[in-house]
Amino acid sequence: MSNYHIKHLEEYFQVYRKSVTNPELFWEEIAEERFLWRKKWDRVLSWDFEKPDIRWYEGAKLNITENCIDRHLLPIGDKTALIWEPNDPSEAAQYLSYRELARRVNKMANILKKLGIRKGDRVCIYLPMIPELAIAVLACARIGAIHSVVFAGFSSVALATRIQDSSCKMLITSDGSYRGNKTIDLKGIADEALKSCPSIENVLLVKRIGSEVQLQSGRDHWLTEFWEEAAEECTPELMEAEDPLFILYTSGSTGKPKGMVHTTAGYMVYTAYTFRNVFQYKDEDIHWCTADIGWITGHSYIVYGPLLNGATTVMFEGVPNYPDFGRFWEIVDKHRVTQFYTAPTAIRSLAKESLDYVNKYSLSSLKILGTVGEPINEEAWHWYNDNIGKGRCPIVDTWWQTETGGILISPIPWSTPNIPTYATLPLPGVQPALLDDEGHELKGNNVQGKLCLKYPWPGIARTIWGDHQRFKDTYFSTFKNMYFTGDGALRNDVGYYRITGRVDDVIIVSGHNLGTAPIEDAINEHPAVAESAIVGFPHDIKGNALYGFVTLKESGESRDHNNLKKEINQTIAEKIGSIAKLDKILFASGLPKTRSGKIMRRILRKIATGDYADLGDISTLLNPEVVEEIIEKSKEV
Ligand code: WTA
Repeated sequence: MSNYHIKHLEEYFQVYRKSVTNPELFWEEIAEERFLWRKKWDRVLSWDFEKPDIRWYEGAKLNITENCIDRHLLPIGDKTALIWEPNDPSEAAQYLSYRELARRVNKMANILKKLGIRKGDRVCIYLPMIPELAIAVLACARIGAIHSVVFAGFSSVALATRIQDSSCKMLITSDGSYRGNKTIDLKGIADEALKSCPSIENVLLVKRIGSEVQLQSGRDHWLTEFWEEAAEECTPELMEAEDPLFILYTSGSTGKPKGMVHTTAGYMVYTAYTFRNVFQYKDEDIHWCTADIGWITGHSYIVYGPLLNGATTVMFEGVPNYPDFGRFWEIVDKHRVTQFYTAPTAIRSLAKESLDYVNKYSLSSLKILGTVGEPINEEAWHWYNDNIGKGRCPIVDTWWQTETGGILISPIPWSTPNIPTYATLPLPGVQPALLDDEGHELKGNNVQGKLCLKYPWPGIARTIWGDHQRFKDTYFSTFKNMYFTGDGALRNDVGYYRITGRVDDVIIVSGHNLGTAPIEDAINEHPAVAESAIVGFPHDIKGNALYGFVTLKESGESRDHNNLKKEINQTIAEKIGSIAKLDKILFASGLPKTRSGKIMRRILRKIATGDYADLGDISTLLNPEVVEEIIEKSKEV
């Protein structure tokens, strides 16, 4: 039996048992099975959740890019590593073989060195979803520089904060980017940010849209200036297992963004292993994760996980609704995608549209569907299953976080029987615990509590850049000897986990704990509803009452809104109980969302309490304009 690739449920249970009875042996065998180590580890794991201090494969030496690229050159050098699909479908897609990827990564790595970048330096990458983004990430890893990718939809303020926090020495960006029918002046945004970023010595510019840009002499350089003469060989820097690989910022519930630090060996082993199993990867597969590389999902399941397995990975520059709502399905058809991995918010937005957009294309290549980023509601799950998977593709509802590096809880296709809205079972090596508010672990099944992990896995973040105390306070201080995820979950009668949402979204109404996710699920089942978000607001008798922010499908817009409100509450009463009925309902044209598609409940909570003064920074929202609309309407509700 190979630990590395689980093929049926019984095998899962065997492997899982082994992984928790002897985790070190388990992860040692995994690490020995596939990777290129320049020196083996002295010790598999040492850890202390109090400090916290977590080390995997200490003493080992390696370079992750040798594992992502060089290792594949001999056996599969001509295989396509990367398929790049442009924003505009009339532009040609690009296909980069492993050999070509090696050539470009090495050239880029040599250019970074020429511009003074050395092991341990931080390089900020602010690029659209073009091949150079993946190449820049790998080039940093090649020379031991720490990449910090900032999503190219972030504002100049957000970019500057991130550059400053980790004192990046270089910025890699482009003249601009395409997103649907918009072009974005990335260089202009970067220039604005760099006014307050003295640590940046050089800016490397990729040409994408061909706009006129102002170059600051001595600081700004076109990549093409160096490209031709850059050597195609670049000796990989020998890295220690625990050398940082990258920093990725994630927003906390308070304060400035947290620069999560991931290190080399553990992250490598974990993303490779989870990719292999959750997506049941086979050599001929074409894997498409629709995330942006600016998020952890893109880091782990567009770049590192697939390449570590010698897979073909698709990178898409555009958006799901350009030139029309069929774009995702067109791409699946065009590239014969086998694994399709996206977010529930994307599914819901496409499910609102006519099925003609789906049915125009052949989705017969698909084998596995995935979701990530938020709880998937039942209606969206069924739409995905019925119309995209045609009832024949397992859906992996993968739960994880920026902090966890890779997927922690997920079905294994064809092994784990699915139940919609359940992330199901922990992957091997993952030891979840549910805790009550007093910190007692809830044993057995049919329990609900705060989701923690009681044992480290190789992909766990090691610290917050420059603020280890905050790392400790945020994740390791709520409960003793536990990593606290900030999420709530329940474990049902067969031991399956269902993520109920952030615990800060739990609302206590008349003494009853109500999770927002199941109520939202219920509302979303109403045929006129597109999307909803529930928050609590203070209520004299109940303690808290519920406020629902709802967007309607076109069919709902034309209906009498008072009747709709009654029907929505009726639906909730039916699905959950009268206790969960909403006291207030506001219909809006959209809900405020982060760039990664998460609903900003924090803003809705403030509006629900009539506190319009301090909504915080809304400039990084995907759709700041809806906030104004919601404020106005809330005055009438
Ligand atoms: C939520 C994304 C329910 C959760 C990889 C987590 C999910 C946060 C799921 C992390 C899922 C992610 N079901 N909730 N399958 N996946 N989440 O850091 O609240 O962007 O804590 O990482 O998203 O978001 P992040």
